[in-house]
Amino acid sequence: MACMISHIFLLLPSVVYAQSNSMLNVGGSLIAGDASASPWISPADHFAFGFREVDDGLFLLCIWYNKIDEKNIVWFAQHDQNPVPKGSKVEVTASNGLLLKSSQGGELWKSGPISSVVAFGTIYDTGNLVLLDSNTTPLWESFNQPVDTLLPTQKMEVKDFLSSRKSQNTYSLGKFQLRFSEGNLVLNMRSLPTTYAYEPYHVIQAFEGNQVVFDEDGFLYIIQRNGKRVNISEPESAYPANTHYYQVTLNFDGVVTVSHHTRNPSAFNATWIHFKTIPNNICVAMRGNLSSGACGYNSICTLNNDQRPSCNCAPGYSLIDLNDKYSDCKPIIQPICEDGENNSTTDLYRLQDLPNTDWPTQDYELFKPFTIEECKNACLLDCFCVAVVYRDNSCWKKKLPLANGRKDSGEKSISFLKLRRNISSIGQDSNLPRSKGKKNHDTLVLALSILLSSSLLIILVLASFISRGFISHHRKKHTSDFLPRGNFGSMQKFTFKELREATNGFKEELGRGSCGVVYKGVTEVGSVAVKIFNDMFEDSEKEFKTEVIVVGEAHHKNIARLHGYCDDGKRCMLVYEFLSNGSLASFLFGDSKLSWDLRTKITYGIARGLLYLHEECNTEIIHCDIKPQNVLLDEHYNPKISDFGLAKLLKMDQSRNRVETNIKGTTGYIAPDWFKSTPVTTKVDVYSFGVLMLEIICCRRNGDMEVYEQGREILVDWAYDCYQQGRLDVLVEGDFEAIDDMGRLERFVVVAIWCIQEDPYQRPTMRQVIPMLEGIVPVSTPPSPCSFSSTS
Ligand SMILES: *[C@@H]1O[C@H](CO)[C@@H](O)[C@H](O)[C@H]1NC(C)=O
Ligand SMILES: *[C@@H]1O[C@H](CO)[C@@H](O)[C@H](O)[C@H]1NC(C)=O
Ligand SMILES: *[C@@H]1O[C@H](CO)[C@@H](O)[C@H](O)[C@H]1NC(C)=O
Ligand SMILES: *[C@@H]1O[C@H](CO)[C@@H](O)[C@H](O)[C@H]1NC(C)=O
Ligand SMILES: *[C@@H]1O[C@H](CO)[C@@H](O)[C@H](O)[C@H]1NC(C)=O
Ligand SMILES: *[C@@H]1O[C@H](CO)[C@@H](O)[C@H](O)[C@H]1NC(C)=O
Repeated sequence: MACMISHIFLLLPSVVYAQSNSMLNVGGSLIAGDASASPWISPADHFAFGFREVDDGLFLLCIWYNKIDEKNIVWFAQHDQNPVPKGSKVEVTASNGLLLKSSQGGELWKSGPISSVVAFGTIYDTGNLVLLDSNTTPLWESFNQPVDTLLPTQKMEVKDFLSSRKSQNTYSLGKFQLRFSEGNLVLNMRSLPTTYAYEPYHVIQAFEGNQVVFDEDGFLYIIQRNGKRVNISEPESAYPANTHYYQVTLNFDGVVTVSHHTRNPSAFNATWIHFKTIPNNICVAMRGNLSSGACGYNSICTLNNDQRPSCNCAPGYSLIDLNDKYSDCKPIIQPICEDGENNSTTDLYRLQDLPNTDWPTQDYELFKPFTIEECKNACLLDCFCVAVVYRDNSCWKKKLPLANGRKDSGEKSISFLKLRRNISSIGQDSNLPRSKGKKNHDTLVLALSILLSSSLLIILVLASFISRGFISHHRKKHTSDFLPRGNFGSMQKFTFKELREATNGFKEELGRGSCGVVYKGVTEVGSVAVKIFNDMFEDSEKEFKTEVIVVGEAHHKNIARLHGYCDDGKRCMLVYEFLSNGSLASFLFGDSKLSWDLRTKITYGIARGLLYLHEECNTEIIHCDIKPQNVLLDEHYNPKISDFGLAKLLKMDQSRNRVETNIKGTTGYIAPDWFKSTPVTTKVDVYSFGVLMLEIICCRRNGDMEVYEQGREILVDWAYDCYQQGRLDVLVEGDFEAIDDMGRLERFVVVAIWCIQEDPYQRPTMRQVIPMLEGIVPVSTPPSPCSFSSTS
């Protein structure tokens, strides 16, 4: 036996002296945590094999560098129960080779299959652990079962692959893989636990690649089927392989490193030098449409100085697993599509700009050409959008979860991340004593009882305040008692002085109505329209309150935005966004007419705004005063419904859908049902919309006794007559754009006539109106608007 051992050692290139524990006989074993069981050491002490304690009381069966301080693990027995507890045992067996058992005797791992009878095993100074038969024929080698590291003289065949660990110190299966695919050497991620391989993130072209060789001099290359060589990496000449350890590792972060370390254990300040990384920039290399990329979902990858990825959650996101910075991130505030809030607004969301940042996947829409502002708006207005990436006039909308995020100076994209504002942090009044809560409630209820007649409404509005965390503060009887202190949702509270300054002493008047006057002003949010309610009239007070509640709740691009209000005891004021083109009335009845095309667009916009009020916001709202004076136009002539002083809030109740109340509207636009004892429903707005449509079509007022010849004074009657006689050209006399678009013109007139039916049940809902206007659904011939009254 002794002669056989020395014979084997003669075969080994680097044998200097025989060391008894470099060889293991069948029956030899090691027990994890057994201090007396020293590991098996290679002849020149370079490598050791045995159990290493990798966690408290937990061990890994592995091979490591034994001589130097940084004892990297180069191979380990791969199985699901790593690391194993104290008492686990590895044994050299004749038929199963190495056999790892738990302390209870359960089999954890074995090196097999073995084709012959094992006589003994040994570990070489190359780091290769080998089992041999009695003829010294190798039966099994750890080099043929690579894990995540290749050592000089090790080869990787087409069928082999490297697998990353889960993390630097976690020895379970990781996400990354180095393998041959279609003749090339590729790096890919894979899905766990199935190990299904995703698209490669890096390909080393080898064409007919057959074998990866890491030679004894530290050259790494692929051998093609035809025997030709494709170089991957060469050693650093200053650190020759006979005086330095070399290794190739697929790291847990997906980067392959080629490294060296001096073999001299007493060398000063010796460390592993990673002199080559593959790929060069893993953050940028990742663009597969499956998996999260190098970092977790919603994370952003940046490259460290050592060309390794560093992962950080995107702003507004936090790690799901706080101990693993490579893990996924979750939104701190979940983005949600609220009811009727498809188009979310700047009040609920903000955009955070992230220069040189891209998410190359997870697109769902592409706009091109687009300006950066259009791009940002498109995301803000879309509740599915969580980020947009902008580059070269192109705008990509992204959805969750964001994958493959990277920030790199080479990225020419700028990203905007949409973050939900922390609404609950705005308007908290910490000075409010808690004990006053009950009393405030009572005041609130009282104020609302006066304001609104239905108790259902009180509960509704009350609930909406309380849910936002606002309780009004008790003060002496004043109009604003019911209003929240501080900022109301996204609304700002202004002082009288601030608004006097903003409007330059109420200098520039924009308009005037029954309830007050509107002035132009400038605040930090930009130009605004400040509406001052007439002093002390009970109606004004009511209308002020109604308007704050209604508009405060409504967020839609066709509803004028309320920025804030002032109720400091002198006057009630509302601060609206300034809409530079003023009211629609001036464009319908004034000198400068809008084109037919623009007028149809405005009609669609108003219809959408009304649909939102009626069906899509939290509380059902009847505007009650739809007329051209109350439709404002922004710089792009987008219509925005304003002036909610008369509006009514309705409890969602499909069966009744109405509120009983006295309302005053504007003559000419008021539905006949107002004057009857029947309850008022959203159909009153539909009626007014019908009248407004006819005015938009014809660019004239509904009732204009003086100007028009007999039979034409009342637009709604005349329009029906024209329609019946098939003379719509007369209705839009001289408007050739409209006449050329006769299909749409007829559709509009017909829809308008349906809307102004005297019987509210005959009128369509706004939800029905929109597809009718768009021509998506056919519209039947309407009866005379007055048929209801004449038959009843
Ligand atoms: C690969 O590297 C070796 C050693 O540096 C060199 O001799 C050989 O020419 C290289 N082959 C190619 C194809 O570059
Ligand atoms: C030790 O090596 C590191 C990395 O190579 C280097 O940054 C450091 O300055 C060295 N320390 C000394 C004392 O030479
Ligand atoms: C995913 O990417 C691959 C190649 O990059 C492409 O062939 C495939 O169509 C993509 N799949 C989807 C759903 O986009
Ligand atoms: C909401 O927006 C999405 C995406 O733009 C669109 O597909 C969907 O039809 C919209 N829904 C409504 C009710 O407008
Ligand atoms: C939302 O905005 C998009 C784009 O601005 C628009 O096409 C769509 O009609 C809007 N939807 C609603 C419900 O307002
Ligand atoms: C929102 O603001 C409140 C009050 O400032 C704070 O306590 C809370 O942590 C914030 N929430 C988030 C998600 O930032």
